[in-house]
Amino acid sequence: TDSNVFRATTTAPVNIAVIKYWGKRDATLNLPTNSSLSVTLSQRSLRTVTTASCSPNYPATEGDTLTLNGKPENIQASKRTLACLSSLRALRKELESADPSLPKLSSYPLRVVSENNFPTAAGLASSAAGFAALVRAIADLYELPQSPTELSRIARQGSGSACRSLQGGYVAWRAGVKEDGSDSLAEEIAPASHWPEMRALILVVSAEKKDVPSTTGMQTTVSTSPLFATRAEHIVPRRMTGMEEAITKRDFAAFADLTMRDSNNFHAVCLDSEPPIFYLNDVSRAAIRLVNDINRLAGKTVAAYTFDAGPNAVIYYLDEVSELVGGTFKTILGGELEGWEGPFGDRLKGVSAG
Ligand code: PMV
Repeated sequence: TDSNVFRATTTAPVNIAVIKYWGKRDATLNLPTNSSLSVTLSQRSLRTVTTASCSPNYPATEGDTLTLNGKPENIQASKRTLACLSSLRALRKELESADPSLPKLSSYPLRVVSENNFPTAAGLASSAAGFAALVRAIADLYELPQSPTELSRIARQGSGSACRSLQGGYVAWRAGVKEDGSDSLAEEIAPASHWPEMRALILVVSAEKKDVPSTTGMQTTVSTSPLFATRAEHIVPRRMTGMEEAITKRDFAAFADLTMRDSNNFHAVCLDSEPPIFYLNDVSRAAIRLVNDINRLAGKTVAAYTFDAGPNAVIYYLDEVSELVGGTFKTILGGELEGWEGPFGDRLKGVSAG
């Protein structure tokens, strides 16, 4: 009966890094070669909704199941999902052994149902929101007392960038030094309310699945790019400090400069890999030129572009230049900002950050 079903529903937002995670020092635990920093986007636009349930009535033969955008996924084939589920179950078991009066949820099969409101695996950080929502939903179902930072260790095993989606605002993922990953955690460095003027515009250049999945791409880069070590050891550590300072001071020009340089440096190590990895296309490059034009026209840096493992652009800007940024993209590409289809089959979405 329904009263025997335990259930929790949650949503998790997408985060877009301004200092990129690219490279693993441990591929099983998803330990990164460098720290990274992201802005969590507003849940109004891009998010995953996930419901986790468990019940003694769910047939044990079915085991744990995951439905993603209406399609059943094979969890057994996903070591990452299995790692998240078993870490969460272990924490629930600890609670149950400390308090024998608690229902034995850890022994029941789990059902996880997840929906994205944006294209999956198109360089729109779907895995980040997906694994963050999965971990949050099961942690809520199990009534786990762990903080978002402690849960970030579990989400990280699902997808590295997911560890940054359990918190809002500006989130740093500290690479850590320990082999067991216990110090590789995400922490909120400022809430969204710290910088309410921050905005993000997402230019959906292509909703197709990306060519080279991030894990494969990272491995190619780490093992073949001579530029990579300089990025991981020298360039990123300095930028992390600079970026935290820019955010603390709400210095948009410094934030934008570091964001664009770091996106370019990430795509440079991709190009420096063997075989080279191309995530940007002609539309991406047109977006870069447009942002440069906007900044030149404004006489100061008012907009910043960044690209993940795909051609879609994310443009960060402050509310005061919304018309300039939105207007320029609209005039050049035509149409409306929301759900707009343009000459390249592109789509622009205006969303607020934080
Ligand atoms: O979390 P993953 O394994 O999908 O890797 C994400 C990598 C980038 O999106 C390119 C950068 C980042 O920091 O999010």
